[in-house]
Amino acid sequence: MKRDEWDARYAAVELVWSAGPNQFLEIEAAGLPPGRALDVACGEGRNALWLAQQGWQVTAADFSAVAIDKGRARAADLGLDVDFQVADVVAWSPPAQAFDLVIVFYLQLPAADRAAAFAKAAGAVAPGGTLLIVGHDSTNIAEGYGGPQDPAVLYGPEDVTADIAGLDVEKAERVERHVDTADGPRTAIDLLVRAVRPR
Ligand SMILES: C[S@@+](CC[C@H](N)C(=O)[O-])C[C@H]1O[C@@H](n2cnc3c(N)ncnc32)[C@H](O)[C@@H]1O
Repeated sequence: MKRDEWDARYAAVELVWSAGPNQFLEIEAAGLPPGRALDVACGEGRNALWLAQQGWQVTAADFSAVAIDKGRARAADLGLDVDFQVADVVAWSPPAQAFDLVIVFYLQLPAADRAAAFAKAAGAVAPGGTLLIVGHDSTNIAEGYGGPQDPAVLYGPEDVTADIAGLDVEKAERVERHVDTADGPRTAIDLLVRAVRPR
């Protein structure tokens, strides 16, 4: 989807995504000491706001100005200090090796753009820091539930690990996400990659 399409989607409803954080972030960040965090393609900021509540000093970027405005408003309501920025995460240059945690959740782009965004995200991880990427897996259309239906923007854990040179991969796997729908419970198939930059 293009930037103006995302703006329209974010403008249409109060919250496109959940108010609370993604379940895999809660699990994976649980053991990490809070430091500097970067949320790449943060949307309305559900994960950035949760990280800030856990004591992280958070920068969060998305190219939808509508989403970023919503994130800023929610941060103000919650009394949280998050550095929300409007940026194209395919083309930007985040500070090199500056963040103890970099997250990229459900950024679904064609391969070349995705590779650029993931390489830049990986480059922002500080020595000893962690990169966490979660997305809609390429098997989700046939075997899962919801998410984009265009195979060109789906990927698997092996695609991610190819894009994050310089980091040591700790996890690269498919994971199941429970979804409650009007028709009953469903299971979505995501991918999760966790990697660290050697000290
Ligand atoms: C599925 S949403 C996920 C939002 C958020 N990570 C979350 O999990 O709640 C994908 C987000 O990627 C953003 N996005 C897509 N392409 C982008 C780009 N080139 N630069 C910055 N943000 C982008 C969209 O605006 C949208 O907010």
